[in-house]
Amino acid sequence: MKIGIVGAGQVGSTAAYAMMLRGVGSEILLVDRNADLAAAQAHDILHGTPFAYPVRVCAGEVADLDGAGIVLLTAGANQKPGETRLDLLSRNAEIFAGIVPNVLAVAPKAVFLVATNPVDVMTQITSILAVRHGVPAERVIGSGTTLDTARFRALLAEHIGVSPNSIHAHVLGEHGDSEVLHWSGAVAGGLPIAEITRQMGRRLEEADRSRIDKAVRRAADIIIKGKGATWFGIGAGLARLAQIIQDDERALVTCSMVTPECQGVRDIALSLPRLLGAGGVVATLMPILDVGERVELKKSVEILKEAADGVCR
Ligand code: LAC
Repeated sequence: MKIGIVGAGQVGSTAAYAMMLRGVGSEILLVDRNADLAAAQAHDILHGTPFAYPVRVCAGEVADLDGAGIVLLTAGANQKPGETRLDLLSRNAEIFAGIVPNVLAVAPKAVFLVATNPVDVMTQITSILAVRHGVPAERVIGSGTTLDTARFRALLAEHIGVSPNSIHAHVLGEHGDSEVLHWSGAVAGGLPIAEITRQMGRRLEEADRSRIDKAVRRAADIIIKGKGATWFGIGAGLARLAQIIQDDERALVTCSMVTPECQGVRDIALSLPRLLGAGGVVATLMPILDVGERVELKKSVEILKEAADGVCR
């Protein structure tokens, strides 16, 4: 499958690199307004293929996206220390307005995978542009809380002393400060997280939950403070999502998509557990939430609606 990546910066090139290491895609095309950067990233990744998979990695222009099965949208500014993801909205909405219509015109049959922050509203912007090219909402997906969910699972696994692959837990709503850790739905070994923690002789007091919640919610801020941006976690997550779509895996992931209704709010892009396959989102699951989680998710959706109303008129 030909996979296009618009934006050859840290996130886009790391996603391309992660795909090459996993053998995702037969051809990866990097597109960037800085053609020299796209070419350099493509050459650098291509030189790694003999150590991994024979993926054809090249650079090109928007017109070369013709025939792509998946197009990643990673172009845009990223957070600076102290900025929220929503602070990036006006800058990145302008960048998308200038490039996404051209991409849609060339590759209207692709599944679009948005990573640019604030990813939920950027997914909504892309979805509104896409429908004009006959691209349904199910084929416009945002990475959303895929990475937050991975962070939640990794920290829970470390706390309990089991593999992250044995933990099923989701982060819902905004990929951002209002995200909701779905503690009441977290399970491992067929047991609720509180029960497996007890059986494993570990504590799960309020202080433990608060520590994990803060570590998930502030993960990006801490990384940005140390190295200026995040790219390895999101790059690996994008490669995994692309693999699920390419292989029609029908995996359950938390990703963002314009959702007809959630907590009484209509047509807003946010993350929920979704079944992902070749055509994009196959189904969306509505989690069973406790009272506190319902209040938090409603707050998150309302924050996203307010942000979207500002740009998606
Ligand atoms: C992060 C960026 C991708 O959470 O928003 O690392």
